[in-house]
Amino acid sequence: MSQQGPAFDVNAMTLTRWVLTQQKAAPSATGDLTQLLNSIQTAVKAIQSAVRKAGIAKLHGISGDTNVQGEQVKKLDVLSNELFVNMLKSSFTTCLLVSEENGEVIEVETERQGKYIVCFDPLDGSSNIDCLVSVGSIFAIYKKQSSGAPSVADALRPGHDLVAAGYALYGSATMVVLALGKGKGVNGFMYDPSIGEFILTDPNMRVPEKGNIYSLNEGYAAEWEAGLANYVQEKKHPKTGKAYGARYVGSMVADVHRTIKYGGIFIYPATKSAPNGKLRLLYECNPMAFVVTEAGGIASNGKIPILDIQPTSIHQRAPCYLGSKKDVEELLQHLK
Ligand code: AHM
Ligand code: MG
Repeated sequence: MSQQGPAFDVNAMTLTRWVLTQQKAAPSATGDLTQLLNSIQTAVKAIQSAVRKAGIAKLHGISGDTNVQGEQVKKLDVLSNELFVNMLKSSFTTCLLVSEENGEVIEVETERQGKYIVCFDPLDGSSNIDCLVSVGSIFAIYKKQSSGAPSVADALRPGHDLVAAGYALYGSATMVVLALGKGKGVNGFMYDPSIGEFILTDPNMRVPEKGNIYSLNEGYAAEWEAGLANYVQEKKHPKTGKAYGARYVGSMVADVHRTIKYGGIFIYPATKSAPNGKLRLLYECNPMAFVVTEAGGIASNGKIPILDIQPTSIHQRAPCYLGSKKDVEELLQHLK
C-alpha cells in the first residue's frame, strides 16, 4: 500500500533559515540582528493571526471595548504596537524604539539593551481594518553610533544609514519583504499557515524599470502643485500609447508592494495645505524608500532622495514619490 504523505517541501528556505544563512556568511556578525529579526517575525505572526480573526474575536472597535466574554479587548493597532514593543525589548538587541503609536521614543531598560534602534509603524492603514482591506507593518533598523545612553539623536539618522528595513503585508496572504543591508537586494517570504513559517517565494525582487499604473489619492487634486497635476493629466491622456491605470488602496504597504511587483508610481504628495504630505519619514517613507531603492527603484521627496533627508524630529512627515525608475524620473521632471 502506498504511504504518501502530504506534498511538503522538506528543505524549505524559511525566513529564519535565510537570515541565519546571511549571518553565517558575514564573519563579523554576532547574531544580534538575526535575533532582532526573529522578534519582529514573532510580532508579525501574532499580528497576522489577530488581523485574520479580528471580526470573530471582536478585536476591532474602540480601545477599551468589552468582548462577549466580558474581557477588555484591545484595538488592533494597540495590540500590534504592544507586540512590537514587547518582542523587540525582550530580544536583548535594541536600545531605542520609535513607534507611530508613541509620542516619545521608548528607551529599553538598561539590563535589556542591545545596539540596535528600531523605528516602526506596527499597523499601518488601520482605518482599512473594519472593511477588510489590506494593512501592514513597517520597520526600519539602525545600529547605534554614539557611545553612552541612547537618546533621541540616535534615531534621527538619514535612511542611507539603515542596516535593514522591510514590511509585512496582511493581504490575501501574509508576506514579509526584507532588505537586509545595503546592496543586498530584496527578498519576499510568504506565510505558510500550515507550518507557521515564512517561506522564500520572491527571491531578489526587482521593481520593473517602467510600469503602467499611477497610485495616489485623487480626491486632493485641488491641493496639488501644477507639476503633479500635469503629470497625472498626461498619464490619463497620453499623446501616444495607452493611458495608465489608476490603483489606490489607501494602505501604504499594499500600494508600495503592488508598485514593487507590477511597477508604476506611488505618490503621497506635498500639497498646498500639507507641504510635507502625510506619511512619516522615520517609519513609513524611509523603510519603504530603502526597500524600493534596494529593488532598483527610486524614492524621492520631490527634491532629493528620501534616504538623504536628515531627520530633525521623530514623527516628521515627508512627501513621497516612489516606484519604477523611469516613472519617478518622469514625474520629477514635472515637479521641477
Ligand atoms: P495611518 O498611519 O494613520 O494608517 O495613515 C497612513 C496611511 C497610509 O497607509 C496610506 O498610504 C495613507 O495613509 C492614505 O492616506 P489618504 O487617506 O489621505 O489617502
Ligand atoms: Mg502609519
